[in-house]
Amino acid sequence: MTNYIIHGGNPLFGEVEISGAKNAAIAIIPAAVLVDGVCRIENIPQISDVTLCLRILDNLGASVRSINPHTVEIDCTHIRSTRTSYDLARKIRASYYLIGALLGRFGRAEVTMPGGCNFGVRPIDQHVKGFTAMGAKVVVEGGFIHASADSGRLRGANIYLDVVSVGATMNIMMAAVLADGNTVIENAAKEPHIVDLANFLNSMGASVRGAGTDTIKITGVDRLRGGSYTIIPDQIEAGTYMAAVAATGGQVLVKNIIPKHMDCITAKLVEMGVEVEENEDTLLVRRTGRLQKTNVKTMPYPGFPTDMQPQITSVLSIADGTSLVTESVWNNRFRYVDELKRMGACIQVDDKTAVVEGVDHLTGAPIQACDLRAGAALVIAALAARGESEINCVHYIERGYEHIVEKLRALGADIQIVEVPGTSDELEAHIG
Ligand code: EPU
Repeated sequence: MTNYIIHGGNPLFGEVEISGAKNAAIAIIPAAVLVDGVCRIENIPQISDVTLCLRILDNLGASVRSINPHTVEIDCTHIRSTRTSYDLARKIRASYYLIGALLGRFGRAEVTMPGGCNFGVRPIDQHVKGFTAMGAKVVVEGGFIHASADSGRLRGANIYLDVVSVGATMNIMMAAVLADGNTVIENAAKEPHIVDLANFLNSMGASVRGAGTDTIKITGVDRLRGGSYTIIPDQIEAGTYMAAVAATGGQVLVKNIIPKHMDCITAKLVEMGVEVEENEDTLLVRRTGRLQKTNVKTMPYPGFPTDMQPQITSVLSIADGTSLVTESVWNNRFRYVDELKRMGACIQVDDKTAVVEGVDHLTGAPIQACDLRAGAALVIAALAARGESEINCVHYIERGYEHIVEKLRALGADIQIVEVPGTSDELEAHIG
């Protein structure tokens, strides 16, 4: 089992290059199933979630060729199965995108029920509502979701989402691009990766309009052809490094980002006294004085992202004054708070709100990551704390952060990887 040992207290200085967006990559890779021909996908992050997605496609019979560490060519022309491997697909939440992709291309899909409920109930009723409206029959049997279109092809439909859901928006978009006729998704999610998936599909010949607004219109086409596409930079990875600089102090140039995507995070850090200077595709982040309290409420994009909530809470735990952090997307995403408390943080959670009373400093402790962003929050806390922290269950962190140890070390952090006896439970449900 791998742990991280961090000696905190070093301010971060230097430059960090942001990788391709995890939540775009793990949708675009399954979307390659819709394409009749070779898709070349560039700026793919080297993270374990991506490796799993590629293995699932390979197992379905796709040809997956790695061109370099960040570029793959996927050819799904000769896929021979519409049933995912039970063991591979249940490890990753994003395998549910294969329902939309396989159903769209072949009119049927059998995909493992996505596992993992690490921050509360994670229903997929809105995905199912969309597929059903498009003429599919969806049943759960033997651990698999079976979806099939009677005539072998879905038909376009008007679908109103009852909750703003990233996953349902992307899944229905995938199902609709090869459907017969027009589909309209109302109350759609607007995250940057929604736009990225639409751009990918359009670059392969689809007709998707309105992505990035709350109404997405899709006109079905007969086939998608191969092509080349570059994934956008990861908003949350960039935000995590910005939060790390806020917590430790120092000055870091965050490179290869889209500043507009960062506005919701930048605004909060600036309220806390962090200086952020924006350039074309970089942000210079500097913190010299004490951090100030602020209130944060997570919302769908362009609101403050839930995937940055744990990291910002770590930063606020050492800010002057009392801050309120309200989680309005997931119903149980404060489990990491107990670990921050071991480090001396003073945080009370009442239902969906954490009351964070800033302390002068945190102290290092043995702590455990309980999911990806919770793990990132603990890394940030440990970097800022006095003394040594040992973080276990870091396989969660490596699901979504490419070379995090190397990137932090290059900024002056004292972080080491150690192997300890025990097995990291690979079968533990992956969420994300
Ligand atoms: N919801 C429903 N019914 C549905 C779908 C969602 O009620 O059919 C509810 C959820 O329970 C939740 C809210 O709607 O309360 C939003 O869920 P959403 O569908 O947007 O989340 P997701 O697609 O399952 C993705 C990311 C998460 C990120 C959320 C919100 C992937 C694979 N995961 O999840 O990322 O938190 O969007 O932005 O893209 C992460 O990267 O750490 C991560 C957890």
